Amino acid sequence: MDLYEYQARDMFESHGVPVLAGIVAYTPEEAKAAAEKIGGVVVVKAQVKVGGRGKAGGVKVAKTADEAFQYATDILGMDIKGHTVNKVMIAQGADIAEEFYFSVLLDRANRNYLAMCSVEGGMEIEELAVERPEALARIAVDPAVGIDQAKADEIVAAAGFAPELTEKVAAAILKLWDVFTKEDATLVEVNPLVLTGGGDIVALDGKVTLDDSASEIRHPGHEELDDKANTDPLEAKAAAAGLNYVKLDGEVGVIGNGAGLVMSTLDVVAYAGENHGNVKPANFLDIGGGASAEVMAAGLDVILNDPQVKSVFVNVFGGITACDAVANGIVGALNTLGDAANKPLIVRLDGNNVEEGRRILAAANHPLVTLAATMDEGANKAAELANSAK
Ligand SMILES: Nc1ncnc2c1ncn2[C@@H]1O[C@H](COP(=O)(O)OP(=O)(O)OP(=O)(O)O)[C@@H](O)[C@H]1O
Ligand SMILES: [Mg+2]
Repeated sequence: MDLYEYQARDMFESHGVPVLAGIVAYTPEEAKAAAEKIGGVVVVKAQVKVGGRGKAGGVKVAKTADEAFQYATDILGMDIKGHTVNKVMIAQGADIAEEFYFSVLLDRANRNYLAMCSVEGGMEIEELAVERPEALARIAVDPAVGIDQAKADEIVAAAGFAPELTEKVAAAILKLWDVFTKEDATLVEVNPLVLTGGGDIVALDGKVTLDDSASEIRHPGHEELDDKANTDPLEAKAAAAGLNYVKLDGEVGVIGNGAGLVMSTLDVVAYAGENHGNVKPANFLDIGGGASAEVMAAGLDVILNDPQVKSVFVNVFGGITACDAVANGIVGALNTLGDAANKPLIVRLDGNNVEEGRRILAAANHPLVTLAATMDEGANKAAELANSAK
């Protein structure tokens, strides 16, 4: 889960990372009240989970509370790279002397952590990383050791901070490492980390990605950080049912068991779609090993509620859960859903006890269900039906 900047700010504060005051606001009135509360110059900042807000006009300096009201009016409702702004953060204005960059992230390819740091931070960091990569220090962090004082000193030295800053920057990095490990994050990024006119080091903008696998058991409090109002309603419904579902942009709903089988089903459907008006898979949905009637019903319920879906391809390979159980699951699911089941279903079953599974589906003789002998045949039929219903 990615956090909003204001959530990252609060998390930084709770771990002792130096930050400035920041208050989230959903309306211009709230923005004005927040600006009055903070006092002095404030910055009105769009809260969206995408980079480049400043360049898109989503970060504005307000000298008065009335100006904050005006900027909040402009920024709320704005579209930044496809994300609608529905909240802003009113941040205390910083007197910036210099802008730096720091991040630490999970480096999957190297099975390691990676810290990156530069004395040239700010909004041009992406260009810097491409054009002058030597200006961005990259330091591997051994997960067994982490960032201790020696490692923090090494990072600061590699980035080339002025001697009078090294101690303060290293101290901030140690606190940011606390955020990374204690919250089970996979990314903590601060851009800019600033030096103020008064000589303080402050994190002015934070990006944090939390490890969802750790959140569930180790951090029950992280659940509250999830912005349910902004998640896709179908994905929210699937998550509530414990399903592994990702919404895609096509017309053929896909249900399968096992992530590998579902991934290849998506490929086969996309390929078949090339001959049928370019229809595409509408989703990824892995119902896992135990394809019971309840799970099948929950999965179908999510997929059939997607208005873009015109047909559904159920592609199941019977293993521990044999095909007869899956077939009973499908029949049970269709009964449970009743009139809510209103789109054609192509079912391809193979594997353990396939004959009995096919017999059960044939006997049920449901008007919406067509059996396919192979995966290619099923994908082709589903694509054809989706195209003709477009
Ligand atoms: N509280 C603040 N006080 C003064 N200036 C600020 C403050 N917050 C941000 N700025 C200025 O605005 C610039 C952009 O802000 P910020 O880094 O938060 O957004 P961004 O970089 O555009 O967003 P993203 O990091 O998501 O791409 C900063 O580099 C800094 O110069
Ligand atoms: Mg930034």
